[in-house]
Order: sequence, then structure tokens, then C-alpha cells
Amino acid sequence: MNLPQASATAPAPTIRPRLTFIGTGYLGATYAICFAELGYDVLGVDVDTAKIASLAGGQVPIHEPGLDEILRRNLAAGRLRFTTDYEEAAEFGDVHFICVGTPQRADGLGADLTYVESAVTSLVPHLSRKALIVGKSTVPVGTAAWVEQLVGKHAPADLGVEVAWSPEFLQEGYAVEDVLRPDRLVLGVHTPWAQEMLLAAHKGVFDLAATEDREVPVVITDFATAELVKHAANSFLATKISFINAMAEICEASGADVTQLARSIGYDDRIGKKFLRAGVGFGGACLPKDIRAFQARAQELGAGEALRFLHEVDLINQRRRTRVVQVAADLLDRPYGPAGPDLTGFRIAVLGATFKPGTDDVRDSPALSITRKLARAGAQVAIYDPKGMENARRELPDLEYAATMTDAVKGADLVCVLTAWEEFRYADPNMLAELAQGRRVIDGLNCLDPALWTAAGWQYRGMGRPNPA
Ligand code: UGA
Repeated sequence: MNLPQASATAPAPTIRPRLTFIGTGYLGATYAICFAELGYDVLGVDVDTAKIASLAGGQVPIHEPGLDEILRRNLAAGRLRFTTDYEEAAEFGDVHFICVGTPQRADGLGADLTYVESAVTSLVPHLSRKALIVGKSTVPVGTAAWVEQLVGKHAPADLGVEVAWSPEFLQEGYAVEDVLRPDRLVLGVHTPWAQEMLLAAHKGVFDLAATEDREVPVVITDFATAELVKHAANSFLATKISFINAMAEICEASGADVTQLARSIGYDDRIGKKFLRAGVGFGGACLPKDIRAFQARAQELGAGEALRFLHEVDLINQRRRTRVVQVAADLLDRPYGPAGPDLTGFRIAVLGATFKPGTDDVRDSPALSITRKLARAGAQVAIYDPKGMENARRELPDLEYAATMTDAVKGADLVCVLTAWEEFRYADPNMLAELAQGRRVIDGLNCLDPALWTAAGWQYRGMGRPNPA
């Protein structure tokens, strides 16, 4: 372990460090707001002036349950501010968390690290005392060591600025809980000073756990392991979902019911029942891009074979999206040719646009991808989502956007439920039957009650389950 360089102005790890969160998207905004709630003085930083103005004005630019209220409370308490000024951030913070996006590269499967690079190189030249730069963004293994080099090159030489890596595991829709009450903390550090600073930056999390008689497990490890943990966790989750979706394919071919199968294997607690919901597959800004970036990195490391199965995981996932179009063609009595079906003349109501309920996020959403396929097949599609309309409209501007669920269903020949929002799960199939032109429904998430829908006169099709009699 390298001992940290001494610096007269280095903040002592025992104090409550001042924190900045650089990048105020889903990850950084939630962290900044929740760490202010834990009692830290926090500065949120972003280059997007509109986002910063919105947060500073008490409006969270994303939909995340509970976050708005905590934002306003902490702005009012004076613990939380937002800025676009890196100089101000450097002056303010003792610990700087890098929370910027790492999207899939335009030219391949790997992660685009441009935003990480620009966050680091914009911040560190302005530092005037020792500080800790902590990576939170999901990155390929080796990135932390590269960030350390960037810091070495761009930070004033005598300050001994250090780097650490601490992946996040928050799930959209539960992000506030996941940040305030994490199920584990992973700290990748090189020096005792970095470790102490990072622990001090999380003291609020430990204090909250103590008041609730809980413990937060901490894994202190090296950079490479800390980085890999995140890709490994998301790959495992994606594999679990694709496993059950592969079983759904077998159930579809054999007449079995994947929901019963998932329940039955899930009782074995070595398997567990979570993340075994078959349906339209996984989407979002994390799982799909992370399994691809992980494969790309393994290839670069000469270990590509080890992760070849993730390619299969991806393919199974993509096939679920096509499957919905096949079922639609079948229900509408149209042949499925090599170029897909011709659905011209049919009106389809799509219920759901976001990649899962509880968020307004439509990034790599199975619902939108299926909608695009249905529209390309010639169907006239009307889409409705309780929270994702604005983002969906930006992605697919040419669709018809219905103001309510009932507006979407009015006159439809087919209804496709593609996000498991409660509004759809508990919708009254009798009332909807009165509005639809054809009583056909595809339950992309197996979230409806087939008996109720069938009793209301609907032809019901689930995913990986037999058609009701
Ligand atoms: C995921 C991980 O769950 C988080 O632990 C991780 O921190 C996060 O990515 C990230 O990398 O930042 P998230 O993308 O918010 O979180 O969503 P999940 O709840 O994991 O759902 C991902 C997708 O899988 C959704 O499309 C969901 O509908 C689908 N899913 C989930 C299934 O199809 N079946 C299931 O049984 C569970």
C-alpha cells in the first residue's frame, strides 16, 4: 500500500468532509440530495445549465419517488447547492464523487469514457488542497488506474490528490432507499487516507443504520475488484432474467407455464425468487449496456471467452422483443414473413413506455423498442404511459400519444401491456372491453390476471404461458 503524500492542508478524515457530486443525472442527483439529507454539506455539479437551474429551483428533472421533497427540504436547510462552475466545486469539496454517464460507444460495444475524462480534467486543475476523487460511474476495469493517471497529469503536483472507486447499486424507482440504506458499500482504495476519507464520507449512512439497528456491510478492496463488482452484479442480474426468458421460450414450445416454473424454482433459496419474472426482457440505461461493455473489456484483456455467454444473454433478451410482434401477428391473424408481419390497418394500444414502472426513464426500454417494431410493421399505434410520455415523445416523435389509458384503448384492435404500471395491472378489463374494437390483449409482463381478462371476453396472451381455454 502506498502511503499518501503528506500535505499541510489535507483535510483530516475524522471531520465531516464536504462532498461534491459531479454529474446530476439519475445517479448524481439522487446521491447529492440524499447525502445532504444525511447531514453533509453538498454541492451538485453539472455542465447542463437547465438541469442545474431546475435542481436549484427545487425541481428534480427526473421522476424518482420521494426525491422532490427531500430536495426542497435540504435546499431550505442550506446544506445543498448546485453549480455549473468547476472552480467553485474544487474550492468547496473534500471528496468529489464522479457520477457522470458512461453510455455505450457509438462505434462498438465498449463504454464511452468521455464524460469521466472531462469531469476529472475540468475539476482537478482547480484544486488548491488535497482532495479525494471517487469514481461512482459504472466503468470497465482499469478505468480507476487511468483516472489516477489523469489526476497525476492535471492536478497541481504538490497536493497529493488521491483516487478511490466506489460503485453504486441503486435501482431506479427505489433510488432514495438504495442510497440512504444500501445493502453494501464497496470501497476500492489504495491508501489508508483514502479509506478513512471515504468512510468519513459515508458516516451518515452508518449513523442512520445504527439508529435503525442495522449494519451496512463494507467491502474494502482494490480498484480492479471494485470496478468489476458492478459489471459482475449487473451481468448476474441480466443472466438471471435471460435464464427465465429462455425458460419462457421452452414453455412456449411445450405448453408449460413459466410463471409456475419460476415460482417453483424460486422457493429454493439458493436460486431465490427475485429477478425471475419472464416477459419482454430487461432494458434501461444499465443492464443492456453493461453486459456489452463487460464483454468488450474482457476481449481487450484477452479473456473474451469467459464472457461469451453474455452475448447469448443479450440475444435471448432481444428475442423477447420480437416475440411480442410475433404474438401480435398471430392474434391479428397476419402471417409472419421474413420481413415481419404486415399490420397495416390495425390500431394497437400500447400501455407503457418506460423500461419499468416507477420511473420516467425510457432508455433502451423494451416497451419503446416493441412499439417501434409494431409501427414499422404498419400498425397505427397509440401509446400511453403514466410518467414516461415526455421522454417517449422525444424518442419516437411520430407516434400518437394518448392522454389517458382509456383514450389509448378506444377503438384498438389489440392492447399490449408493455410496462407493469399498477394503473394497467389493476385496470378493469370489463370497462376496457367496452372501449376496444377487438378484445385482444398481450400481457408482456405476465402482470394481468388471465382469468379476469378472459372472463371479460378478451383473447389473452401472456409470455411463456399457455393460452387460457
Ligand atoms: C439495475 C440494477 O438492478 C441495479 O442494482 C444497478 O445499480 C443499476 O442497474 C445500475 O447499474 O445503475 P435498474 O436499471 O434501475 O437497476 O433496473 P432493474 O430493476 O434492475 O430492472 C432492469 C430491467 O430488468 C427492467 O427492464 C426490468 O423490467 C427487467 N426485469 C427485472 C425483468 O425483466 N425481470 C425481472 O425479474 C426483473
